[in-house]
Order: sequence, then C-alpha cells, then structure tokens
Amino acid sequence: MKINAAITAVGGYVPETVLTNADLEKMVDTSDEWIRTRTGIHERRILKEEGKATSDMAARAILPMLEKKGIDPNEIDIIICATITGDYIFPATANVVADKIGATNAWGYDVSAACSGFLYALQTGAKFIESGTYKKVVVVGVDKMSAIIDYTDRNTCIIFGDGGGCVLLEPNEEGFGVIDAKLHSDGQGRNFLYQPAGGSLNPPTKETVEARQHYVYQEGKTVFKFAVTNMADVSYEVMKRNNLSSDDVDWLVPHQANLRIIDATADRMGLDSSKVLINIQKYGNTTAGTLPLLLWDFQDKFKKGDNLILSTFGGGFTWGAIYLKWAL
Ligand code: UT7
Repeated sequence: MKINAAITAVGGYVPETVLTNADLEKMVDTSDEWIRTRTGIHERRILKEEGKATSDMAARAILPMLEKKGIDPNEIDIIICATITGDYIFPATANVVADKIGATNAWGYDVSAACSGFLYALQTGAKFIESGTYKKVVVVGVDKMSAIIDYTDRNTCIIFGDGGGCVLLEPNEEGFGVIDAKLHSDGQGRNFLYQPAGGSLNPPTKETVEARQHYVYQEGKTVFKFAVTNMADVSYEVMKRNNLSSDDVDWLVPHQANLRIIDATADRMGLDSSKVLINIQKYGNTTAGTLPLLLWDFQDKFKKGDNLILSTFGGGFTWGAIYLKWAL
C-alpha cells in the first residue's frame, strides 16, 4: 500500500501587535483606501517583543500543536523550516527551533524560497514520509518580515506582516495526504523581489546600509504580472492532471499577496469564491507564513477527504501548487 504524507495537526502564531492601514498613513504617503482596493489588506501583525525572532514564532506555533495532539517533542524526527528571515544567516533557524521546543531527537534545516517556502518544504517533508524514512515530520513556514522591511518605502511596507504556522506530517495508507505537487523556479526573476545586500554578493558595509539595501526591494508591477499568470496556470495544471473538475476542488488555499492575484487564480480554476480561503485582510503577506496560517485559521471548515489545492508565487521567482486530500 502506498504511503502518503498526511497533515495530522496544524499550528499557527501571529504576534499581538497590530499595524493598521491608519498607522501606515502616518508613516508614509498612502491611504487606507489605496491599500484596501489594491491589495485587500486592512492590517498586519508585527513582532515587537525585544529579543524575539522568527524561531520564537515557530516555537509558539509548534508547541501548542504538539501538546494538543499529545506528542512529545522528542518524538519529532525532523523539522523543516521555510523562512527568508531566519534568526541568523547561519545556523539554520530549524536548529534553533528544535532547541526551543526541546526536540532533542530531531535534525532539520531551512528552506529558502520566499513566498513559496512552505510549499517547497511541504513537498520535501512529504518525501521523508512517503519513503518510509520518518514517521513524524514538522514543516513550518514563518517570517518576521518587519526585520527586513523599510518603513519609509510605501511600495513594500504596506504589504508585509509577521507570523507563520506549521503542520505535522505522518504516514497514511488510506489515500489521504499529499497527492501531487508541481513546483517551479526561475532565477531570471531574482532582481524583481529581493533583499539586495547582506549575502555574499553584497556583504554588509556602511555603504550598503546607507543605501538601504538590507531591506526588501520589489518591482511590484512586474512581480504582479508574473504572479497572476503563473499562480493561476500552475493551480489549473495540478487540477487538470489529477482529473479534478472545479466541483471536485473543495478549497483553494492561495498565497496571500494580493486579492487580485487570488481572484485571477480562482477564476482560472472556475472556483466559486466560497471555496477560496482568504485572511489577507488580517495578516497581510507573511511570506512563508501565509499558507499554514490559512490552514490554521480555516481547519474547522475542512472535512476528511476534502480536496485542497495550495498554490503560491514568490521571490526567486518561485511558484507552485500542491494537491492534498485532508486526512482529519
Ligand atoms: O508575495 C510575493 C509576491 N508578491 C506579489 O505577488 C506582489 C505583486 N504586486 C502587487 O501586489 C502590486 O503590484 C502592488 C500592491 C505591490 C502595487 O499595486 P499596483 O496596482 O501594481 O500599483 P503600482 O506599483 O503600479 O503603482 C500605482 C500607483 C503609482 O503612482 P503613479 O506612478 O501611478 O502616480 C505608485 O507610486 O500607486 C502608487 N503607489 C501608492 N500609492 C499609495 C504605490 N504604492 C502606494 C501606496 N500608497 N502604498
């Protein structure tokens, strides 16, 4: 019998501090009306606590999930952490998370794929289960975007927020879990959405700091153009190659970057808006955090056997879609 990787628990965490559109109106030349109509975002969460980082949000998502499920952190085999705002350049945030949650038997690593990070990590984690290598895999997608956002740049500061979530993957032999994945990357897109300095190409110097190159740079229009077609196309392709009609798809779980991109994807798939999960108004774009945060927010709506399509587009460029059958 084929072993599938099923999601058997979900966790999530967003910081308490709320940054509203009205707050941003006082910081940059923007308006609540512009932000709502162009993106769908009303507010986002910011991790303000002194000395807290991405790993702390991950731990706050994972620990209650394990506790609810009655699983000791020592039972976890591996932690795969999708993030572009790790606590350090190295070591990997997954290592820090394992320490903070007391997962002494786990090893782990980070996956860097910007807004597609969670899907990349989910696909990787699923393979450890499908191959029979491991029984308990934690996949976490989390970002502290406020650490790399320039709050004087209205092109980016209105979009991003902090937060993330996680899933536990366990073997399933009844056909539930991850069924199919189609993932892509195209490095030609790297300069349209990126953090120009801080890596080995442009190590930190006084000049890079003064030029504000340690913040996110985005050419919004270009990214929008690629996102709108690629996210819609890959979602449609995954649906078609699994012989799913729009009636068969129960939920679209789309990356939360812009309501207009989500609408275009749902249109291409022929989905009614009632099947499209949206929480962008509350959290903005949490990068690797958006998809697990949707699963966390809406898990009570899912029924066992529901067909979910998770899809995303992000910096890199990276994009893709995963089809899974809900197992809970
Ligand atoms: O998650 C990873 C992938 N990222 C994405 O998918 C994001 C994709 N891009 C987008 O979502 C959109 O491009 C944005 C929301 C970033 C921008 O929306 P847009 O409709 O593409 O606006 P634009 O950049 O074309 O700007 C239109 C106008 C410009 O003014 P002019 O040149 O027409 O006078 C901008 O300067 O809006 C201006 N503008 C703003 N005005 C008020 C740009 N940002 C703001 C702002 N408030 N915050």
